[in-house]
Amino acid sequence: MSKAKRSKQAADVNSCKIGFIGAGKMTQSIIHGLVQYGKVDPKRLHVAAPSPNNTDNLKQQHAGLKVTKRNLDIFGKFDCDVIFLAVNGNVIHNLYKLGGTRPAPLTTNFIPNMKHPFYVLSLISGYEIKALKDVLLNPEHPDKYQMEMHRIMINCAAAYGLGVCAVDVEPDSKKLAEVVRALLSSVAKLEYIPETQMDAACAVCGAGLAFSYYFINALSDGALKIGLSRASAVKFAAKTVNCATQTLLESGKHPNELKDEVCAPSGGAIYGLSILDKADVASGISGAVEAAHKRAISLAKDDNPQ
Ligand SMILES: NC(=O)c1ccc[n+]([C@@H]2O[C@H](COP(=O)([O-])OP(=O)(O)OC[C@H]3O[C@@H](n4cnc5c(N)ncnc54)[C@H](OP(=O)(O)O)[C@@H]3O)[C@@H](O)[C@H]2O)c1
Repeated sequence: MSKAKRSKQAADVNSCKIGFIGAGKMTQSIIHGLVQYGKVDPKRLHVAAPSPNNTDNLKQQHAGLKVTKRNLDIFGKFDCDVIFLAVNGNVIHNLYKLGGTRPAPLTTNFIPNMKHPFYVLSLISGYEIKALKDVLLNPEHPDKYQMEMHRIMINCAAAYGLGVCAVDVEPDSKKLAEVVRALLSSVAKLEYIPETQMDAACAVCGAGLAFSYYFINALSDGALKIGLSRASAVKFAAKTVNCATQTLLESGKHPNELKDEVCAPSGGAIYGLSILDKADVASGISGAVEAAHKRAISLAKDDNPQ
């Protein structure tokens, strides 16, 4: 749709233009999910990143997707309706360092006053909405924008249409625009979490996804040791974890209660669990979540993260 013809109303899920600032893992997962499961035409997707390292692949995988090196294009030239901020926190940290009394804009110049409502969804760990508004909106007239901004957490399972997504408002309420709700719901199940807990949610759902694959792999290694083929071992390990997830969510019981239901007196499960306890697996896993959280926050405040 040309700019001249654009309605001043909010775009809907079938026509909105979607922008991404940053082209890394999170952007790739969301784009894959939106195209495959949200049936979004790649022509509606626009991605800004400083190098072609990731955008070249994205262009190849999704014919019609547009890329730019200028973050400003996402708001100006491409005039997107829903914009995901998916850069690492150190990018924002550097803008605050560069700017002196006020931060430098993420978009070289502050974003233009767009003629229609638009929605900015930040995935950036370690930065609150207020700090992000300061690197986007013209400080001379920050209230003139028709912008709604949210912090979200979405994990990489979005690539398969199976993500978990936390939003800083009740997802079923009027506080979340229909277009945003519909887009996010096409790739993930939406949950509410306050903005102050978004980084914690990111550690448990984002990094926790990797920890879950690690656990499934370990479970399948055990099955391989006792004679299952690798394929059967992985399939049964994954299905078992899926059973645990479903029973937990559907029963509303505490995991320890369900664990007790599985353990017969003097049976195999309790003997196995005592091996896990001896190896301190529980504190290893909770420590991993803590470490992921700490790392994400420190990366957001680091000048040259490795
Ligand atoms: N909320 C969540 O659910 C969740 C989960 C995981 C991660 N995160 C957060 O999401 C953000 C992105 O994570 P990721 O794993 O996708 O990161 P990533 O894979 O490291 O990708 C970072 C992207 O940012 C681009 N970039 C660097 N400087 C930029 C700039 N000045 N302007 C525009 N783009 C720039 C990079 O460009 P090149 O392509 O040129 O290198 C790259 O494409 C991080 O803040 C991370 O903490 C959130």
